[in-house]
Amino acid sequence: MRNPFNPTFGRIPKVYLSRKKIAGRLAEELDDFDSQYLATLVYGARGAGKTTLLSAVSRELAGRKDWIVPKVAREVYEQSPTGLKVLLKIIAGVKTGLSGYRQPQQSSADAATQMEAIAKLLKARKIKLLITIDEVVPNPELAEFTANYQILIRHGYHIGLLLAGLPANITRLQNDRVLTFLFRSPRVELTPLDPLMINETYHRVFEKAGRTLTDEAATEMVRLVGGYAYAFQLVGSLIWETGATAVTIDTVNQVRRDFRATLFSNAYLKIKQELSARNIEFLMALADQPAGPVKIATLIDALKWSKETVNVYRARLIDAQVIRPVRWGYVAFALPLFRDFLEESGRFAFY
Ligand SMILES: Nc1ncnc2c1ncn2[C@@H]1O[C@H](COP(=O)(O)OP(=O)(O)OP(=O)(O)O)[C@@H](O)[C@H]1O
Ligand SMILES: [Mg+2]
Repeated sequence: MRNPFNPTFGRIPKVYLSRKKIAGRLAEELDDFDSQYLATLVYGARGAGKTTLLSAVSRELAGRKDWIVPKVAREVYEQSPTGLKVLLKIIAGVKTGLSGYRQPQQSSADAATQMEAIAKLLKARKIKLLITIDEVVPNPELAEFTANYQILIRHGYHIGLLLAGLPANITRLQNDRVLTFLFRSPRVELTPLDPLMINETYHRVFEKAGRTLTDEAATEMVRLVGGYAYAFQLVGSLIWETGATAVTIDTVNQVRRDFRATLFSNAYLKIKQELSARNIEFLMALADQPAGPVKIATLIDALKWSKETVNVYRARLIDAQVIRPVRWGYVAFALPLFRDFLEESGRFAFY
């Protein structure tokens, strides 16, 4: 049997942990024209599963007969000179499924008219449209796109909009004075995967292939994953590749180094590169403390920053999903082995 785990970014995994609460709810909200979630921003750290979630919601709605979900490549949206054209392209991609729509002569109808014509046609057939845009960044194209989107919504066309991006980009998007529409759009956070579900899924997938996991091994695997979607695929994949039919704690120990190295170079390095120098300073101070939850007061002492400054960076790093509040006044690393990663990156200058 081939390895069912796939630690590749942007690929829909065969072994998928249902994000029922998020995916199911989003699908229902998008289906409701009056929902404030008709246009939603999804955010999460690298490898948290944004692309996968967009695909899951798309797939869910595409399976319903009153929905059309065109595939939107990110390049389409980036290369297009105007947002209007983007929307047009997206909707035009849908038209093949619409009898009764005839492409107007290029010269005779401008983009807005064309777009409106397609939207009307969809509405007449009670067809809803989902537009997803992955890896959003604030730029003029997106501003124009959302302005046009807003007009269509005002005209009563049922078009769901799902945008996904890194936390910092979503924040910038919402603070951008040009993108006022998005300012009011709800943001949904991709939260960690449920440990019980991870445990159960590992057992199920391996047992289906006639392989066993000891409880100790499974527990350690879940611990290594730490709720991080990318790590879930990576741990699963590495254990799978050992070929062990009876997976024990020794099997897990065998892949530990590979797991660390791959996790650090494929995910954490990128995450770190996107953080500002001060964010990293904060994280280094956190990594200097004994493992486990750390008091904010301890960090204030260690950093010699004001309480206010520490709190600003605390909030930013929580938003970035690199740290998490544990209990009142305490924080801890949110990603598995991130502390080790920072320690190592401090020791080796090239990180
Ligand atoms: N619900 C899930 N269950 C199991 N694996 C998942 C799930 N969501 C994501 N993954 C896996 O996690 C990895 C990262 O997922 P994805 O590419 O969707 O993340 P992302 O948030 O879009 O990352 P980036 O910011 O780099 O674009 C992939 O290997 C994917 O298969
Ligand atoms: Mg992605």
